[in-house]
Amino acid sequence: MLVGLLERSGVAGCAMSIVLLTAAVAVAQVGGDEAPVAPLEGASGETAVPAVEVGVEGDAVDAPVAPTDGTAPTDVARAPDDAVAPEAAAPLPPHLDAARLAIAEQRGRSIYRSRCATCHGLAGDSRGPAARFLEVVPRDFTSGAYKWRTTTSGELPTDADLMRTVRRGAPGTVMPSWEGRLSLRDMWAVVQYLKTLSARFREEPTVAPLPMPTSVPTFDDASRRRGRLVYVLLQCWTCHGTGGRGDGPAASTLRDDSGLRAIAYDFTSGQMRGGTRPIDIYRTFATGVNGTPMPSYDEALLVGRDGYPDLSRYRQALSPAGMRNLTAFVAQMPTTEALWAMPEERRAAWGTQMRWDLVAYVLSLSEGSALGRYLSAAPYVTR
Ligand code: HEC
Ligand code: HEC
Repeated sequence: MLVGLLERSGVAGCAMSIVLLTAAVAVAQVGGDEAPVAPLEGASGETAVPAVEVGVEGDAVDAPVAPTDGTAPTDVARAPDDAVAPEAAAPLPPHLDAARLAIAEQRGRSIYRSRCATCHGLAGDSRGPAARFLEVVPRDFTSGAYKWRTTTSGELPTDADLMRTVRRGAPGTVMPSWEGRLSLRDMWAVVQYLKTLSARFREEPTVAPLPMPTSVPTFDDASRRRGRLVYVLLQCWTCHGTGGRGDGPAASTLRDDSGLRAIAYDFTSGQMRGGTRPIDIYRTFATGVNGTPMPSYDEALLVGRDGYPDLSRYRQALSPAGMRNLTAFVAQMPTTEALWAMPEERRAAWGTQMRWDLVAYVLSLSEGSALGRYLSAAPYVTR
């Protein structure tokens, strides 16, 4: 029955998500942390030179999104090539006037009913007929809590955020990518309809996305080593585990907003729901995952060496050599006061580099898995 339902939703052949319930194991020490760590370049006022263009967020809706009249679209607009248009430059579709928006919502409603309701429920409450067979609960659209956003923690997503998820899907779960299955304008229409399912979109003002970098630095051993220390310092390991296996000491206690068990992601498995491209992981740190215990690391990063007065608690996560590295790393950080006295640009660059270092480290954890190697060789894999 489930297969029939999924086929009707256009999800034939989609693997059921397998949630790895890793038993909490004794805290292992983060390995390989003996090599000395180069200082954060932000500390000396230099920022890493961006080397590679970021792939587009998948948001560049540069094909005209004319409101449809409800008939089947004739042209299936294709996604622009991932490599060409940087995220920041992605234009939003032209503003729809009220009448056209109503037509788009109408069109979106019929697409939603035929393609999405099996899982997400007719009312958008995540209670579709297929939902009870699914390991990962489909999103409840009535709450307005969206995981993958460019907006600050707790805020509503932008249209472009919703569009990105609809196009890419959530890898590792049954949420399919609709790219090629729905035209760009139909995906856009369904996004407009999703917004009618939660009153929050009517009641709350539109929020501007946080600025996201438009290029990715080259990751090297030095950035991975710094990233590991940042990972320890920010205590990611309490949930994600010192080896990144999702088995940290707090992991078994995590619950999402609806009281269900939340699974801290296992970085060694190689596939992330919010996307595996460096910019996707960066975005997750910067904005957090709404509705789950995964916090955002926005201003939390802007803490200087005096913010870490007692490093002894990190002993459980690091070897003695790692501890020496951590101590040296923290010692070369500016004080919090100095950090906040920096020109805004330099301070932002400091936070940006910490996040990129974390991305470098987190990605290196998945390199041990075959899937991880495959994904890092082909970063734009969504299904
Ligand atoms: C086979 C079941 C299934 C179908 C069909 C499906 N979804 Fe999903 N969807 C999911 C699941 C499961 C999740 C939750 C993934 C998670 O939380 O990691 C999800 C999550 C989402 C999200 C959440 C994004 C966020 O930031 O939180 C959006 C948006 C979404 N789906 C849109 C759609 C749209 C639009 C359609 C139809 C065109 C659709 N889905 C069809 C299963 C499905
Ligand atoms: C309080 C526990 C907790 C802490 C601390 C925490 N996380 Fe998470 N993290 C989670 C949970 C739970 C999820 C899964 C969210 C979901 O259900 O989609 C997650 C998801 C993620 C994801 C997204 C994976 C995906 O599927 O897209 C990344 C990346 C991540 N965490 C990195 C980090 C890093 C790096 C740190 C430290 C700076 C950190 N987390 C700290 C609990 C935590």
